Amino acid sequence: MQFDTRIDMIRALVPTRGVIGEIGVFKCDFARQLVNVLHPKRLVLFDLFEGPMCSGDVDGNDVTWCDMGEMYLEAQKLGEAVKGDSSTSLSTFEDDTFDMLYIDGDHSYEGVRKDLEQAYKKVKPGGWIMGHDYEMNMNKAKTKYDFGVKKAVDEFCAQKNLVIHAKGLDGCVSFAIRKRLKVAVLISGRLTCEQTRLIPQVMNSKEDIHVFASLNVPSEDREMYKNRLEKIHATVRCEPYTVPSEYLNHPKKAPETSAQNMMSMYYHSMKAFEMMGDEHFDVVIRFRPDIISDSLPPLNELEPGCVYIPLKGDWGGLNDRTAYGDKDVMRTYCDIYKHIDDALRSDPTYRLHPETLLAYHMRGIPVKRVEYDTALDENRR
Ligand SMILES: C[S@@+](CC[C@H](N)C(=O)[O-])C[C@H]1O[C@@H](n2cnc3c(N)ncnc32)[C@H](O)[C@@H]1O
Repeated sequence: MQFDTRIDMIRALVPTRGVIGEIGVFKCDFARQLVNVLHPKRLVLFDLFEGPMCSGDVDGNDVTWCDMGEMYLEAQKLGEAVKGDSSTSLSTFEDDTFDMLYIDGDHSYEGVRKDLEQAYKKVKPGGWIMGHDYEMNMNKAKTKYDFGVKKAVDEFCAQKNLVIHAKGLDGCVSFAIRKRLKVAVLISGRLTCEQTRLIPQVMNSKEDIHVFASLNVPSEDREMYKNRLEKIHATVRCEPYTVPSEYLNHPKKAPETSAQNMMSMYYHSMKAFEMMGDEHFDVVIRFRPDIISDSLPPLNELEPGCVYIPLKGDWGGLNDRTAYGDKDVMRTYCDIYKHIDDALRSDPTYRLHPETLLAYHMRGIPVKRVEYDTALDENRR
């Protein structure tokens, strides 16, 4: 994605009223633009704020000098002015603080590397690391400068498996890298189809995807499915599941529901959740194995403590095809198996049915409904 200028790029990509940081502020001209365009709720301005300093304009032209002592006072009028080496100052901030950090301080290879390393920790998942002087656009610049920025950014992207998402084509070109969300995709339940339709789409996502599949697979097919899933880097666990006898012919079982299928689905959801262990994930999304979708649902800016579930397909309860949220709330979602007895005991009108059971289990937990289309695999058995 290319924009004519960096401010166009920022206007298009960065949310307004967020937490914004600029590394290297010089005369505060760009800081003022950030205030006018983004109306940040917090603006942090990092600079050495020391001695006389010179810089060109956004195109690298018209070099001017200023007194950085005076600029320190100027910066304080616009936001929080933080004096000192930027990567050292940045390291004192909490991780996942900023919606966007713009790197334009020490332009040496080592300086940019250090700023990038810190910025990656301090930007929120899904947030932006941007910066100036990645390369020159000689349609606008009069002088060609050669900084360490490009080498540092390219190496950093290769190491972290990131891409330059956008450029702002001033004379000195700006780059934009989006910090990916670390997403756990849980696939759990009775394996009823080939299980190859959903995962390739999921793996195409721009996010950092980790698949955990806990499946009830017929024993004769187990090795085949395991190999297939492991090829696409899923962590897989295949286990047969036998429904405890007390549920098999439970009087509250809805006539159309197979207790075996339902219990197996919720049993494997619990197991898939356990497969993640203590690892941190920004988002956990759980899918039934027979679901097809072209893409992941919108995962950015989720409210902590809310479970996101597609609209429609409730069958008198709550859609059980997929759900997502932060790891804590998804622990509750995936714990349903442990609480089936509570549901059966608590409500005399209650029917043992996947969607109604889910609705009962989710009461008291904020559920947000999302427009997200899924289909059922026509090969499911
Ligand atoms: C190119 S100017 C910034 C221009 C500004 N971003 C703009 O677009 O108007 C570079 C700034 O980085 C600051 N700087 C250089 N090395 C730094 C470091 N290690 N830590 C913090 N600031 C630094 C300088 O004091 C200078 O003000």
